Amino acid sequence: MKQIILLFLCLVFSLHLQAQKFEQLAMTPPMGWNSWNKFAGNINEEIIRKAADNMVSSGMKDAGYEYIVIDDCWQVSRDSLGFIVPDPKSFPSGIKALADYVHSKGLKFGIYSCAGTKTCAGRPGSKGYETQDATMYARWGVDYLKFDWCNTDGQNAQQSYTTMRDALYKAGRPIVFSICEWGNNKPWIWGPAIGHLWRTTGDIYNCFDCVQNHGTWSSWGVLSILDKQDGLRQYAGPGHWNDPDMLEVGNGMVANEDRAHFSMWCMLAAPLIAGNDMSKMSPQTKEILTNKEAIAVNQDALGVQGFRHAVSDSLETWLKPLSNGDWAICFLNRAKTVRKVTFDWKTQIIFDPLSKRTLNAGTTVYSLRNLWTKTGAGNTGKALTATVPAHDVLMLRLTATK
Ligand code: GLA
Repeated sequence: MKQIILLFLCLVFSLHLQAQKFEQLAMTPPMGWNSWNKFAGNINEEIIRKAADNMVSSGMKDAGYEYIVIDDCWQVSRDSLGFIVPDPKSFPSGIKALADYVHSKGLKFGIYSCAGTKTCAGRPGSKGYETQDATMYARWGVDYLKFDWCNTDGQNAQQSYTTMRDALYKAGRPIVFSICEWGNNKPWIWGPAIGHLWRTTGDIYNCFDCVQNHGTWSSWGVLSILDKQDGLRQYAGPGHWNDPDMLEVGNGMVANEDRAHFSMWCMLAAPLIAGNDMSKMSPQTKEILTNKEAIAVNQDALGVQGFRHAVSDSLETWLKPLSNGDWAICFLNRAKTVRKVTFDWKTQIIFDPLSKRTLNAGTTVYSLRNLWTKTGAGNTGKALTATVPAHDVLMLRLTATK
């Protein structure tokens, strides 16, 4: 009897020790759609079902988008056993039915909760109920969890996210774990062992170059978020990504700005989580969000985040090493007026200490492809001269020729 008890204890102990994050998920940056940027708290099951329909019919699914994620405000209370209760008014069919619907479209289903006592919108949080929540998510067929950081006074971030990671692991269903802690406690340091992506900043704001002051907190335009990524690229890689927040493409910026925003998120190997109303996409928005050649830069199997190589007169040059010896280069014009690019490939030997790759057009000739016009753009044998409109990019892919 003693031996059996001992064996049982050992088993429980070893199971406990083994709790970890699910590996082999998000080997390229996750792609999907989330309700928050467009709908905030005004969500219901109809909106989510339509999002799934539109992701398929618009070509987004075909371009690689896969997760439909419900953000804050789907939950309303807890039952007597502590299980979370979806809002019966806005989600009358329940979450399982919704997840089944999303799955029936060949897509994956994501949900939102918070490490604190309440979510940011004041709905019930997961603090103290991690096991019940993880169990429920597994039963419903959840594939992705965004886990926020509001109302967490006195909590340790790493510990709180580890508790949820372990609960998810024990619930047994592989779930991508999205840490939404806004970069407050350097999640890039501890995040890789706990989650698959971690927010590096506060919330994005739908503008290219502004900061929105909300009194006690601020949200950030595209360029501010971009600048906050400095020094973080070494923490990202397959299965663990820096998350500069969801996309605002199609939510009101002009096309140039949307294109620049999307291109930079591709260069950063950022999760591509659309945040627009996919039922009302302009042709331009659709063209940006479904640009497969730009997306290929983001989803490149090497999984190396791009870097800022040079800055001159508001014109930035960014590079991203890609698999098979290719490179992406993106000239970003931050100014409100046009900028001229001149780039003599042969005089630039660029070494990336992270990937240990060198771009040397003196020894290798690369062909150039413009990823927005989707046309050939000559090769690196000749210096590049071009213009980049205000708040726009010139994005090229370099492929070595023999
Ligand atoms: C926080 C997150 C946002 C969103 C809201 C929901 O602000 O950072 O992305 O999830 O909460 O309340």
